[in-house]
Amino acid sequence: MISLLASVNRTEFAYNLRPFFIIHVTVLIVFIFNNSQDTIELIIRRDNHCYDRGSFGTVFRARLCKENDRLVAVKTVIQDKRYRNRELPLMKILSHSNIVTLYYYYYTSEGPDQSSQIWLNLVMEFLPKNVSHLIPHKQKRENNSIPLTPFTVKIVMYQIFRALSYIHNNGICHRDIKPNNLLFNPETGVLKICDFGSAKRLKPGERNISYICARYYRAPELLFGATNYTNMIDLWSTGIVFSELLLGCPIFVEKSGIDQLVNIISKLGTPTKEQIRAMNKDYVKYDLPQVPPYPLNRIFPTNTPREALDLISQLFQYDPNMRILPLYACAHPYFDELRDSNKKWINGRELPPLFNFSEFELKSADDALKARLLSVGPKVTH
Ligand SMILES: *[C@@H]1O[C@H](CO)[C@@H](O)[C@H](O)[C@H]1NC(C)=O
Ligand SMILES: *[C@@H]1O[C@H](CO)[C@@H](O)[C@H](O)[C@H]1NC(C)=O
Ligand SMILES: *[C@@H]1O[C@H](CO)[C@@H](O)[C@H](O)[C@H]1NC(C)=O
Ligand SMILES: *[C@@H]1O[C@H](CO)[C@@H](O)[C@H](O)[C@H]1NC(C)=O
Ligand SMILES: *[C@@H]1O[C@H](CO)[C@@H](O)[C@H](O)[C@H]1NC(C)=O
Repeated sequence: MISLLASVNRTEFAYNLRPFFIIHVTVLIVFIFNNSQDTIELIIRRDNHCYDRGSFGTVFRARLCKENDRLVAVKTVIQDKRYRNRELPLMKILSHSNIVTLYYYYYTSEGPDQSSQIWLNLVMEFLPKNVSHLIPHKQKRENNSIPLTPFTVKIVMYQIFRALSYIHNNGICHRDIKPNNLLFNPETGVLKICDFGSAKRLKPGERNISYICARYYRAPELLFGATNYTNMIDLWSTGIVFSELLLGCPIFVEKSGIDQLVNIISKLGTPTKEQIRAMNKDYVKYDLPQVPPYPLNRIFPTNTPREALDLISQLFQYDPNMRILPLYACAHPYFDELRDSNKKWINGRELPPLFNFSEFELKSADDALKARLLSVGPKVTH
């Protein structure tokens, strides 16, 4: 069957191509020709392998036939005219080694369910696994686990912070940090954040919905119904991912937003009035149960490094402005092991580039922070 197409773009060059034709069969094959100066021929062979399906659409694994059969992920999302799609414009500007790259995008008038609507197809970098494959309680369901070592937790967490710093430097809040959206290549140790379907630039004066983010990963200010929240919600979610990796299961698990909040309070203690105001200044009821904080070192396994607990305590702050900024988190002593240039990845390979910061990434860093981030060298092992 032949389906109409609106435009195809190769993001590296921002082409806006008029397609010559497109063939769309079960194993999707797309031919695209044309443009006055150039000819681009994009052939995508879709594996019969849908690896993610959600309310947003589907993600298929595919190959770029003209590019050495390079594996890609093709995400197909419906173009609803009532809502502006933010994912595409955001993905076009984000370019970082810890964020999935968008290679191409094109529109089709026929989606996977063959309904006649406009679908946006995002052709993106493919990574074989994601962080949910590292988490023991999820591995039981999946049976495609990767070994979870303390060093793996460290390299995963470091790259999340580096990516978040870059995203936030761009004025963007991801708003859906969770293990599924953290792609991971166990061969190289590289982590890349994906799924910018919920991401947004938080601009003054614009309404921000508080019902965002998967429940276990939602920051307390969202549970308090705040619409005036900041990029710091991503840091809370990151703390949840961190604790999930250390505990083997999510730390605060409840079936509703209010139970979720009570669960958080049962472990971190009742927030003070000032902390509640910092989360949502319109929240006036203060009749929360009075609970003292439970020591973090009794929540986490006894062999959890002290530095890891310290970093977690700086993420699990009720007052969003008290949470550690992602670039400071990268500089935290917990990550010093990565800055040891003798260190290799668990399979003996060199570590992926973790310290090749661009000027943009360091633009808000003072000299002391830069010095810590770049204090990479051979460390004496005892
Ligand atoms: C992450 O892995 C899980 C388990 O295999 C899978 O269900 C999910 O679709 C994956 N998510 C992404 C975004 O690839
Ligand atoms: C799960 O993994 C184990 C070990 O690799 C393997 O022996 C077993 O057959 C797998 N089970 C399924 C259902 O794939
Ligand atoms: C949305 O968030 C931004 C950034 O935190 C804030 O400036 C703005 O006031 C918020 N909008 C509303 C309606 O609260
Ligand atoms: C939003 O929160 C900031 C503090 O994070 C506060 O200064 C500001 O007054 C709040 N604005 C609104 C509209 O709630
Ligand atoms: C860091 O190295 C990676 C891998 O070589 C590269 O893709 C990335 O662009 C580099 N980052 C910067 C800021 O140069």
